[in-house]
Amino acid sequence: ALPPPFQVPLPIPAVLKPLSTSDGSDHYQITQREARAEILPGVTTPLWTYEGSFPGPTIESRRGRPVTVTHRNELPVPTVVHLHGGRTPAASDGYPTDLVLPEGWPDATTPPGHEAGHGSGHGAPHVMHDPRAVVTRLTRDYTFPLDQRATMLWYHDHRMDFTAPALWRGLAGLHIVRDDAEDALGLPAGPRELPIMITDRAFAADGSLAYPSLDPTLRERPGVHEPYLAGVLGDVILVNGAPWPVHETDAARYRLRLLNASNARHYELEAVTDDGRRLDLVQIGADQGLLAAPVPHRLLPLAPAERYDVIIDFSGVPIGGRVRLLNRLGEGRTREVMAFRIARRAGDDSTIPRTLATDLPAWRRTDAVRVRDFSFRAGQLHDGRGWLIGGLPFDPARSDVTTRLGDVEVWRLIADVHHPVHLHLVGFQVLSRSGRPPLPHDAGLKDTVSLRPGEAVEIITRFDGYRGRYLFHCHNAEHEDMAMMANLEIT
Ligand code: C2O
Ligand code: CU
Repeated sequence: ALPPPFQVPLPIPAVLKPLSTSDGSDHYQITQREARAEILPGVTTPLWTYEGSFPGPTIESRRGRPVTVTHRNELPVPTVVHLHGGRTPAASDGYPTDLVLPEGWPDATTPPGHEAGHGSGHGAPHVMHDPRAVVTRLTRDYTFPLDQRATMLWYHDHRMDFTAPALWRGLAGLHIVRDDAEDALGLPAGPRELPIMITDRAFAADGSLAYPSLDPTLRERPGVHEPYLAGVLGDVILVNGAPWPVHETDAARYRLRLLNASNARHYELEAVTDDGRRLDLVQIGADQGLLAAPVPHRLLPLAPAERYDVIIDFSGVPIGGRVRLLNRLGEGRTREVMAFRIARRAGDDSTIPRTLATDLPAWRRTDAVRVRDFSFRAGQLHDGRGWLIGGLPFDPARSDVTTRLGDVEVWRLIADVHHPVHLHLVGFQVLSRSGRPPLPHDAGLKDTVSLRPGEAVEIITRFDGYRGRYLFHCHNAEHEDMAMMANLEIT
């Protein structure tokens, strides 16, 4: 049975303690393992986790202070970790074939049941056809320089063909980067800063997660059953792993670090008081850090993988009253997300400065040395339907984009249906939507942009940071697994 809404307390993922902090860098260890949790009352849910919990533990870092995370794979299948939004050297960026094999996995490159020459479900060449893959057994050290703007990143599995079911089972966690400039702004902090990871899930009667995998062991055949090709949706909304939770607050300003970590569900959030008033969600940051100036929203769209950093002010809400975070795109129970119960009066010396950041890039269209076009559309793979970029399914061996380190480019992204498009390594700015100016929530530096059905979105970026092989892809996780990825080679 589903719990009544707004009863379960909002969990806050634990902050992970480093194993060691030395010579200006922090070392963490995360074990990927199976665990069980009571998510719905009276039943337990088997999960795949980082360190036994969903979400995984949060890593807190300072800008420019490098972090090494040793991941140990005790799950029954290969995994690979990507730090989403990280400015990360290619070797630690979690390319989908850079697998960490579990102890018993038969061979360094061939999953069981695969013989050379037989590709995986969608016909894209599998790991054994990628000579550049760096495969390890049991553990891998990922090194993150974190030489980037302060923001909330997230880490998640990125295994070739199997990202969506691995995410669904729980392989996701937060990684927050802070810096002195942001600390000095006087934003709500401490208990008044809340990470809000929103996911939808479906459950079977016994409490297990329901996901329409063709191969529920996730060992051999990737993909989902035909009716789910557009993406898998759940009927239970979890925030930080709890169904429709409630959080007790002061009558004060709060900073909400929103992440849509759902596989395929889009949200349009509004904050509504008991008497039907809508509170502003004042956006202060985007995927890649602070905006130049705050942008208030009454309605905030959230595509898969997007983050929004917002301030909400509960000071005008009567004590004992409630503010519900609702999803305008939902129906029935998926219209509800979570609630805040305003428990007490309290002092508040936080502010929302008019100027938040002055370090945003000022790329102009005329700076671009190249303009590229990419269509994001449904298409035919050799053994069924899938999702294509520029008419092609993902192939690790093909070079889709080659650019020079430091080049500024404009990309024009054209969608058939809704596609949240994510670029690894870089942040970008939205230039236009179908020839019109960007929307208010497109402000700032992003790493994921929501292409709405039929839309053509122009983005601009500079490919700086590191050379190497990266990715861009749709972050509808089912689309991603069904070939909607491409290579981004920086030389
Ligand atoms: Cu959030 Cu390529 O991923
Ligand atoms: Cu898509």
